[in-house]
Amino acid sequence: ARIRHYKWEVKYEYKSPDCYKKLVLTINGKSPGPTILAQEGDTVIVEVTNKLLLENLAIHWHGIRQIGTPWNDGTEGVTQCPVVPGDTFKYEFKVDRAGTYLYHAHYGMQRESGLYGSIRVSVPDNFTEPFAYDYDRSIILSDWYHKSTYEQATGLSSIPFVWVGEPQSLLIQGKGKFNCSSASLTADTCNTSNPECSPYAIIVIPGKTYRLRVASLTALSALSFQIEGHNMTVVEADGHYVEPFVVKNLFIYSGETYSVLIKADQDPSRNYWMTTNVVSRPPNTTQGLGFLNYYPNHPRRSPPTAPPTGPFWNDTAPRLAQSLAIKAHHDFIVTPPTTSDRAIVFLNTQNRINGYVHWSVNNVSFTLSHTPYLIALKKKLHHVFSQTPPPEGYDFVNYDIYNVSKNPNATTSNAIYRLGFNTTVDIILQNANTMTVSNSETHPWHLHGHDFWVLGYGEGKFDKKKDPKNYNLVNPIMKNTVPLHPYGWTALRFKADNPGAWLFHCHIESHFYLGMGVVFEEGIDKVGKLPSSIMGCGETKGFGKP
Ligand code: C2O
Ligand code: CU
Repeated sequence: ARIRHYKWEVKYEYKSPDCYKKLVLTINGKSPGPTILAQEGDTVIVEVTNKLLLENLAIHWHGIRQIGTPWNDGTEGVTQCPVVPGDTFKYEFKVDRAGTYLYHAHYGMQRESGLYGSIRVSVPDNFTEPFAYDYDRSIILSDWYHKSTYEQATGLSSIPFVWVGEPQSLLIQGKGKFNCSSASLTADTCNTSNPECSPYAIIVIPGKTYRLRVASLTALSALSFQIEGHNMTVVEADGHYVEPFVVKNLFIYSGETYSVLIKADQDPSRNYWMTTNVVSRPPNTTQGLGFLNYYPNHPRRSPPTAPPTGPFWNDTAPRLAQSLAIKAHHDFIVTPPTTSDRAIVFLNTQNRINGYVHWSVNNVSFTLSHTPYLIALKKKLHHVFSQTPPPEGYDFVNYDIYNVSKNPNATTSNAIYRLGFNTTVDIILQNANTMTVSNSETHPWHLHGHDFWVLGYGEGKFDKKKDPKNYNLVNPIMKNTVPLHPYGWTALRFKADNPGAWLFHCHIESHFYLGMGVVFEEGIDKVGKLPSSIMGCGETKGFGKP
């Protein structure tokens, strides 16, 4: 195994990813940042210097379980104090499983300003994957706002509430195209012929097969991704091999990664569109465009056809069907335990608390403790967060998930769920109506520090007696991010076998910011000595930096 050493500087720089000039968070001058390339078993070291003038920083390694290094998960407020301007923080962790992963900022809503990138972990030398391809490529799909993160966050925590709204653009590998003439902007602010915003092109050689690692790090949007004239065979999801299936469009939610195989077997005399479309919300953003560039055509040559449009935004059925189609590859099934020790139901609601808009789980909107949980737990600083355990469910009999509920008892809390070490835990995510009549959103939930088995999805209210009988215990896929569909439920199972404190949250930036998350603790007594580099804030000042 090797050591992969990176040195990063994080800054704000003026860039025009969608032709509109604004401050973008860059790593060594780039957004998306450099791709981390490693092999299974390698150790990755990233020394990050915060060169921001006014903002703290933390970087999360999304999908990496951090076994034995829970303090390097990069989750501000949970596993570490923020890295303050001028400081350098050293992340060091093992990439113990091949697959497609991500990294991104995990301080406030900073991720959406462009601080993210791909992690590609290749298989060990003597290992044969269950599919073949000639070339390997990675792209990150995202959405893009013109207002600063700071302005958005301020609006979300104000009365009256100022919603972030729909994104201005959709980006493919950091490139999009805003319609500059739609607003009265000067050519200096918005210029569609700026080379910085020329569409991203994947160059393909006719006849070859490509493994395309597609990831989504949208702030808000659920996406449909399509490549004109090319089917995609889904072969990997969140680092696990999938029983292959073919799609024309791939639904992908923030925090998910997929590998798809595409064969460059179409008319080689032209290029083809790659497109992304918003689904699950009334789209108010033009589609994202990129090119599949057949060599040797010019990479900027537009395809002669109109770009493929996505599916209907409000048609939930094909999205649910695609979620259900994702099963573990038959040669790589990890069988889940047949029963669980504890089942927790998480009702997802939107509500008002003291006039402020929040997202809540079982009527509790999560706020981070000022002292990171990992340190507070390990050092037994029990006074820094509420010791009243958060609820395990909701009023199943009386709660109407199809109607607006005022949820008058909703509260905020910084309490966490404490799990028995090595126990098997089931989580049932239950969706409901928002504060808007006849509206339920899609929430991509992401678990830090673990992969979980996806046992099932369903429509309506989860029935504790009936629905578990239909769980897939034969070949469930393991993932770290999973969608909760409108008015539906999603059931997960995981082993609480990774000592530490781990965030589980909706991957939509503004939803987590408004409280849509929980923290799990397990095996805190088995966590090794915490490095002093993670301390310095809240009640950890005493143990702080040298
Ligand atoms: Cu990719 Cu806590 O997130
Ligand atoms: Cu959400």
